[in-house]
Amino acid sequence: MRYADLHRRSIEDPEGFWLEQARAIDWIEAPKQALFTNRAPIYEWFKNSKLNACWNALDRHVEGGRAEQTALIYDSPVTHTKQTYTYRELRDRVASLAGALKARGVTKGDRVVIYMPMIPQALEAMLACARLGAIHSVVFGGFAARELATRIDDAKPRAIIAASCGIEPGRVVHYKPLLDGAIDMAAHKPDFCVIYQREQEVAQLTEGRDLDWHACQHGVEPADCVPVEGDHPLYILYTSGTTGQPKGVIRATAGYLVALAWTMKNHYNVNPGEVFWTASDVGWVVGHSYIVYAPLLHGATTIVFEGKPVGTPDAGTFWRIIEEYGVVSFFTAPTAFRAIKREDPAGALVKDYDLSCLRSLYLAGERADPDTVHWAQEKLQVPVVDHWWQTETGWPICGNPQGFEPLPIKVGSPSVPMPGYDVQVLNEAGNPVKPNELGAIAIKLPLPPGTLPNLWQAEARFVKSYLATFPGYYETGDAGHIDEDGYLYIMARTDDVINVAGHRLSTGAIEEVLASHPDVGECAVIGVADDLKGQLPLGFLCLNKGATKDPAAVVKDCVALVRDRIGPVAAFKLAVVVDRLPKTRSGKILRATMAQVADGKDPKVPATIDDPAILDEIAAALATIGYARTPA
Ligand code: COA
Ligand code: AMP
Repeated sequence: MRYADLHRRSIEDPEGFWLEQARAIDWIEAPKQALFTNRAPIYEWFKNSKLNACWNALDRHVEGGRAEQTALIYDSPVTHTKQTYTYRELRDRVASLAGALKARGVTKGDRVVIYMPMIPQALEAMLACARLGAIHSVVFGGFAARELATRIDDAKPRAIIAASCGIEPGRVVHYKPLLDGAIDMAAHKPDFCVIYQREQEVAQLTEGRDLDWHACQHGVEPADCVPVEGDHPLYILYTSGTTGQPKGVIRATAGYLVALAWTMKNHYNVNPGEVFWTASDVGWVVGHSYIVYAPLLHGATTIVFEGKPVGTPDAGTFWRIIEEYGVVSFFTAPTAFRAIKREDPAGALVKDYDLSCLRSLYLAGERADPDTVHWAQEKLQVPVVDHWWQTETGWPICGNPQGFEPLPIKVGSPSVPMPGYDVQVLNEAGNPVKPNELGAIAIKLPLPPGTLPNLWQAEARFVKSYLATFPGYYETGDAGHIDEDGYLYIMARTDDVINVAGHRLSTGAIEEVLASHPDVGECAVIGVADDLKGQLPLGFLCLNKGATKDPAAVVKDCVALVRDRIGPVAAFKLAVVVDRLPKTRSGKILRATMAQVADGKDPKVPATIDDPAILDEIAAALATIGYARTPA
């Protein structure tokens, strides 16, 4: 069957198509019905079924002949550690941790927040929750205490699992004080915390609240897998919205496993028993899906890499790992390749390794710029597959099905919609536009299994954020066009979300922090183009009348404030003080116009601008920090 026929079938007969795919996973009660439409536009998948995600990821492989196969490889250049775990070992470790959580009252439906670096214990914690039917919510280690506190207050976890520290090149990230600070700030308090003590830094445990990872497992009965309903949340993953309040994306168990199982062979071209490597972080959706659940579900070997593309120790680390472990498919963000290309433009280090095992490279998380794609194609001599997805969808919306029917690659496009995604480009009135015309990218409802059914305890926000603008469609927040061959091109965001090194950040959340500085009267944050990270946040600060502090000192304070409140991951280092901000006559700040000025583009100035002269002031202020190369 050709891919186009398969896709058509998935849209015309979602029920038949997904029930068929559902055979790839183990059920306790198999589904008789796939899609439930009675609450439309809220759709649910595989509601009347029972299964367990941890069983599917571990136990069934142990029982089915893969017990001694390597499930997980831990490679940590920052700690000079390499370890491997078989499926049996990983299952036993997970069952033991789950036993400890269960012994302290964690049951199905309880939330557990996980705040850990890229170590095997992070996966063990996630899978232990899945084993009990507890809902995990992993918070990325680069977020500060306040961001962690916001998530604790939203998820209201019974327990928090953390490590004593993380290792970033050149510094130790002190997780435990961040965790303590977050718990102090949060209104909700967990019953207990489990702390994994790393040898690089042993943290002080809080008496009566914190348990040591190993000690709490001593003498406990390993826990069995708890059956959950198909629509039971496997996890909540918070992502940036337009305000400082992140959105809690819910991932329902069954649809997610069914969709991921489809992708492993058909999209990523990986067979059970082979090594699949995703260089990302378990704190992001890419890590949830393609470091943890999908490779294990598929009986493949996954790699937990604690390091960076460059500097740990050099720009050849990725190639070393591919050769050493025989990686067949490799997935990362374009920014990682830009970092390597910058250090080793000729690709000299690539030649030091035998990469003949590698069949293809997958890039996602941000726009894959043609220069980077061409460089990777030339140096690695494998297909470079750009694919597009979001935290909300949990798996690719558009991609190129390498294991089913590799389609021609068009550089600059993440190719074509994956099964179940009816992707359309709409104009402002909500009508589909012609091929090659720019518009808002929307997906006709229902979304396929695995995608978000709702936001955690925020259904009204879910409807307002995603379903209200174009009735009958899910609004992606991305803009672009579809060409005459059905290939999608992502050009921009339609909201105030920016993408920094493959990480999604809300400019609104950064503005909330800047506005809290006592001398800042008004502010705006935009994303400016950056050769390495794709975009960087840049702040404009208008100081209060009568503010006496030196403007340079206010900028310094603001940079520190964002790092302290949101975290280093915001990479907020650029800000300028200006007298006023360009606005429309109705008072809307013209962020997109300012971004064009900053990027040295001819700004599109709306007719409704209040005072065009302000744009010259903005350009002059930007020029002082090296932006606005051709001032307006
Ligand atoms: N815990 C604590 N701090 C973290 C962190 C973590 N897990 N991850 C990143 N940080 C910190 C970094 O140390 C850095 O701090 P600094 O300001 O003190 O230097 C800051 O957050 C920004 O990090 P990052 O954006 O990663 O920049 P970098 O300069 O350290 O590295 C790249 C640049 C390109 C090498 C890096 O961004 C990269 O590997 N990106 C891959 C992106 C990716 O995997 N995306 C996931 C989606 S697929
Ligand atoms: P996140 O939810 O953090 O994964 O971010 C999702 C957003 O990242 C998307 O809505 C896009 O804006 C952007 N994105 C992800 N993958 C791609 C891609 N392949 N090309 C262009 N943009 C992408």
